[in-house]
Amino acid sequence: MNLLFIGDIFASPGRNIVAHHLQEIISEEKIDLAIANAENSAGGFGITPLIAQELFSIGLDVLTTGNHVFDKKEIYDYLPREPRLLRPANYADELPGAGCIVVKARNGVQVAVMNIQGRVYMPGTDCPFRKIDLLLKGLSPEVKVRFVDFHAELTSEKMAMGWHLNGRVSAMVGTHTHIPTADERILSEGTAYQTDVGMTGPYDSVIGSEKGLALRRFLTALPVRLDSAKHGVELHATIIEVDSANGRATGIRRYALHG
Ligand code: FE2
Repeated sequence: MNLLFIGDIFASPGRNIVAHHLQEIISEEKIDLAIANAENSAGGFGITPLIAQELFSIGLDVLTTGNHVFDKKEIYDYLPREPRLLRPANYADELPGAGCIVVKARNGVQVAVMNIQGRVYMPGTDCPFRKIDLLLKGLSPEVKVRFVDFHAELTSEKMAMGWHLNGRVSAMVGTHTHIPTADERILSEGTAYQTDVGMTGPYDSVIGSEKGLALRRFLTALPVRLDSAKHGVELHATIIEVDSANGRATGIRRYALHG
């Protein structure tokens, strides 16, 4: 079976390219489950209930997030009502939402989708390594196909998580940097791995934001307000082929579209 994971959907340019192409990707690539990171889908910062509904309505099955998940206040009440919208599991337990869901893919196979967040150059959450151990312990052994979005800044933290999860999940991919990496591979025990899937949004930018503003911020150290960029829109995703009988990945490849 095939899992599609779309990298960080950034603002309306990112949402539009996904809306235009998702159905054709699903049919051409025989996708059984479509997942996307949507933590930057609302103007680059956070996600709203309306945008989440829009993304589900165009055919995404599960949405993951990251450090911007709580940016928009209206998402707090929505998270407990919409279990297909995940937030990193290693935020405090008393916060709304959850970081794991088991869903039925189009081919009828149960798939666990999990979302955790790194701690280096990121908010001080609980340990993602120990938290993912707890999530995995809570899963039924029947659920063999398991996908993890590890939202983290540091390549070494992500690679370490890949080895931590090797043989225990079907795939772990990274998000957050908005820069796609070319290191996709299958680790020794059958876990597909990629350090970062990259952004789905405007690449004529500094990781999605208008480049003049981002540059001014670096040049002056002033708290310049960032706006989302509009041009050079690309969709970056990864397609993972999994043997549903044992949960082992049999293929991983990058998938990109230029708008
Ligand atoms: Fe992020």
